[in-house]
Amino acid sequence: MDKKTIKDIDLKGKKVLVRCDFNVPMDENQNITDNNRIVAALPTIKYLLEQDCKIILVSHLGRPKGEFKKEFSLEPVAKELSKLLNMEIIMAKDVIGEDATEKAKNLKPGEILLLENVRFHREETDNDPEFSKKLASMAEIFVNDAFGTAHRAHSSTTGVAEFLPAVSGFLIEKELKFLGNAINNPERPLIAILGGAKVSDKIAVIDNLIEKVDTLIIGGGMAYTFLKAQGYEIGNSICEIDKLDLAKQLMEKANQKNVKLLLPVDTKVGKEFKSDTESKTVKSTEIPSDWQGLDIGEKTIELYSEEIKKAKTVIWNGPLGVFEFDQFSVGTIAIAKILAQIDATTIIGGGDSAAAVKKAGLEDKITHVSTGGGASLEFLEGKKLPGIAALMDK
Ligand code: 3PG
Repeated sequence: MDKKTIKDIDLKGKKVLVRCDFNVPMDENQNITDNNRIVAALPTIKYLLEQDCKIILVSHLGRPKGEFKKEFSLEPVAKELSKLLNMEIIMAKDVIGEDATEKAKNLKPGEILLLENVRFHREETDNDPEFSKKLASMAEIFVNDAFGTAHRAHSSTTGVAEFLPAVSGFLIEKELKFLGNAINNPERPLIAILGGAKVSDKIAVIDNLIEKVDTLIIGGGMAYTFLKAQGYEIGNSICEIDKLDLAKQLMEKANQKNVKLLLPVDTKVGKEFKSDTESKTVKSTEIPSDWQGLDIGEKTIELYSEEIKKAKTVIWNGPLGVFEFDQFSVGTIAIAKILAQIDATTIIGGGDSAAAVKKAGLEDKITHVSTGGGASLEFLEGKKLPGIAALMDK
């Protein structure tokens, strides 16, 4: 890593502003349904506590679009954090208002203050310099540990770095190590498994990964665009007609680069897009006209599993079927199980695939499950993440 981390500077007793990604899923009663991102922030927070820092945490939650909305309050996060750390978390009623600034001023070494949702101010997403300056004025050092938000050039991710010495926390360091090594310095064979509904969401990732991988495995809704591009019948399966040429070009590029590209050979189809719809398995090249592909079939699971077993490094982004519907989650769960068994570095690129691994209860058997959804996708696309670019070089 060519950026400074919290280990590279003297933090003893300093007042530190720490950007975390506490954007966690909640149910309608504001109960946190998955605390992974909070747990992932703990190593940095604990280290800062050991250094007797005065800790000010800042995060967004959801997209409240610049106004206070009770359902986007970070109060449930303060409670969860307090439980996890077994200590009081001081909660500010605002972000840069009187309450927050007063509480920040009076903070003692070893205390933690959590500011309210930074997106209650439109200036946050506008990356407004005045707002950044005010945020920065509360502390002496800025630590960015919000990998999940590193692809956003916002006030609390890049703006504050203009006004304070800025370093990364342990989570960003860890994410870059695993994702970066997997792409740039992998033990081979390197296999990428890409799923999800649309080719258009993954074009840049496919394009970038074709340059790096030995095998590319395609599943999920986007597989049907590739099958259609080869001239096969795909019935009512999801397809992006305007991306057929692009799918052809990507297949051609894989061919030129000697990348093995695997598409489903059989498909579990449903009559309708609903969980309890009638279903059957057919050849992927012969999907009947009034059926739609909703999962990979048994033969494909076998084919993909055999290939995955040869890998030394695997990167996976996007489910291989409609895994929210139990009967169409079989392919995704089967592939998660293979990943959990093999002797290889396995990386899950966040978002839906991370949720699938969690649903299968296999998180602990995966080398690294990224906390980034959009951020890990942009990283896999080969893009520079502004939240990381803004940090001090080593
Ligand atoms: C995420 O959930 O991917 C991050 O917290 C970023 O959220 P955003 O897409 O609303 O910027």
